[in-house]
Amino acid sequence: MVKANDNYLKLPGSYLFSTIGKKVREYSEAHPESKIIRLGIGDVTQPIAPAILEAMHKAVDEMGVRETFKGYAPDLGYEFLRSTIAKNDYQARGCDISADEIFVSDGAKCDCSNIQEIFSLDNKIAVCDPVYPVYVDSNVMAGRAGDYDATTEKWSDVIYMPCTAANNFAPELPKETPDLIYLCFPNNPTGSTITKAQLQEWVDYANKVGAIILYDAAYEAYISEADVPHTIYECEGARTCAIEFRSFSKNAGFTGVRLGFTVIPKELKAGDVQLHGLWARRHGTKYNGAPYIIQRAGEAVYTEAGKAQLKEQVAYYMKNAKVIYDGLKGAGFTVSGGVNAPYIWLKTPNNMTSWEFFDALLEKVNVVGTPGSGFGPSGEGYFRLTAFGTYENTVEAVERIKKINL
Ligand code: MLT
Repeated sequence: MVKANDNYLKLPGSYLFSTIGKKVREYSEAHPESKIIRLGIGDVTQPIAPAILEAMHKAVDEMGVRETFKGYAPDLGYEFLRSTIAKNDYQARGCDISADEIFVSDGAKCDCSNIQEIFSLDNKIAVCDPVYPVYVDSNVMAGRAGDYDATTEKWSDVIYMPCTAANNFAPELPKETPDLIYLCFPNNPTGSTITKAQLQEWVDYANKVGAIILYDAAYEAYISEADVPHTIYECEGARTCAIEFRSFSKNAGFTGVRLGFTVIPKELKAGDVQLHGLWARRHGTKYNGAPYIIQRAGEAVYTEAGKAQLKEQVAYYMKNAKVIYDGLKGAGFTVSGGVNAPYIWLKTPNNMTSWEFFDALLEKVNVVGTPGSGFGPSGEGYFRLTAFGTYENTVEAVERIKKINL
């Protein structure tokens, strides 16, 4: 008899943003007159920048001409994009990363959930708590997380690194030694960051204990402070202990276009196995490459016009972040994040649980956010708002929240 993968059956509930989407849909159907403002999932609202659109149009036209038509893309990405990324995101920052260490994909979510496949099931993972749920769920699906305890809301084989107000939402080195350490900075969901000196401590620790850091830098475009690292490869020794994930979703509005990449330095090893070769093998077998049109769009992100237009787009969202941060702080909420990240993390008022506050916001003022507890047990009593809405909706949402009668 055919059997389903038991690991999937261990997953409690559905994916966080699917649960929220369902709740909002149900509320909206029951109250069709309500004008709901969505500041839940970190989905962008500004259209694709003109320089990028132009590149996409040109690439579309090329596909209609025999001489310039493209079939399968190279597994690991077109050379024009890989070398543009290496030059702009790494070499320009003094980081020693070459084009052939970059693997182009259709987004960071897929890469950071698929990467665990090239590691043994015996490896122990460490995650921040709260955390982007994809890191944990993908390890559960693989059978690496152990069993779920509904009381503690923790998996038995996962090391949790609490990120709370007490440690400024920055994880401390774990007591138990992990094999794989997931870090995300600027952080989703708390919007916190760590300095280059703090990240260097993680790199030194990983090299010392023989762990690998899986570094998600999807929000690096939102960094505004000088001592916050844009990539883990700014740290000495990162080439022997770190894989980095990057996305075009948040810096260029590609949540629907889909493009990302993963960096695996050639020195990086698990035991005596080179991981670059292993990921290339996996990529080549399971993936046919991001579409040519989209990779040309990605290349346009790095043109002078593209950079200027995207700087404005990031500034637009960061103006929203300030509206949320200042507005809620002024109204007496305890808020953090929003300075180097498009997420604002707030303490729920009156000791409400995260989901109680979610329901109150949805039902009383028609604003959607994300319950902190959905990201892990240390997120309980917190709530995430995204700066990716339109400016008008953001201003309106903050006004509504300020007036909420709890
Ligand atoms: C989020 O809201 O946390 C993100 O949009 C999710 C993602 O990027 O996959």
